[in-house]
Amino acid sequence: MTTSIPMTHDDLTYFLQAHGRFREDTGEFRRVLHSPDQISEERAIALVAYWDNVMELLEHHHTVEDDVIWPTLRTKTSAADASLTLLESQHDGLDSRAAQVRSALVMLAGAPGPADRERAAHAAEEFHREIGTHLDQEESSVIPVMLASFSKADWLAIEGSNMESIVEHGLLARMLPWVLDGMADTPVRAILDGMPAALVSEYRTSWYPTHQTMRRAALGPAEAS
Ligand SMILES: [Fe+2]
Ligand SMILES: [Fe+2]
Repeated sequence: MTTSIPMTHDDLTYFLQAHGRFREDTGEFRRVLHSPDQISEERAIALVAYWDNVMELLEHHHTVEDDVIWPTLRTKTSAADASLTLLESQHDGLDSRAAQVRSALVMLAGAPGPADRERAAHAAEEFHREIGTHLDQEESSVIPVMLASFSKADWLAIEGSNMESIVEHGLLARMLPWVLDGMADTPVRAILDGMPAALVSEYRTSWYPTHQTMRRAALGPAEAS
């Protein structure tokens, strides 16, 4: 009976990989904006585009938590109720903080002055700090309750509905290369081995290269002038 088999930390690989990618990418925005390098108009436009991409993936991650994972957990136990309420309000706070970063990045693509650069660097710094606090709290206060409350079958059902929603929202081509970026070859191969060959081919020939180009244009080394 799979319903009685408890989920394990290994089942959270994809979920925690997404947390790691949010930490890493928002840290990279902070680094680029704090660096002494000039930000060209082209680079600023790429920063806005990649920020929008990462924030759309973050919004989806939060929506699945608020609409699926947390309500399912609440049906199992009340042990995490206070933490879940706090995390939901942090999701809202991060939405408005993300909009501040975006508007500061858009300013950099115009004719920015030093104060605009400083504003963008400060907004990115604050976002990175806030999301780090949020993810740390989620991992320390809620994941242990999830591990104690969900069966493997519960988690598989949640992951299944997450994947359906990703596909429904047209996010698979961006979500998959983003979340697998930087992951070791063996787990990446294990994930791709479970997918249809046509999709894996699209991932290798189009989705991953497109992701790399977009990320490099925003966060890669400055072009030599
Ligand atoms: Fe999360
Ligand atoms: Fe969250």
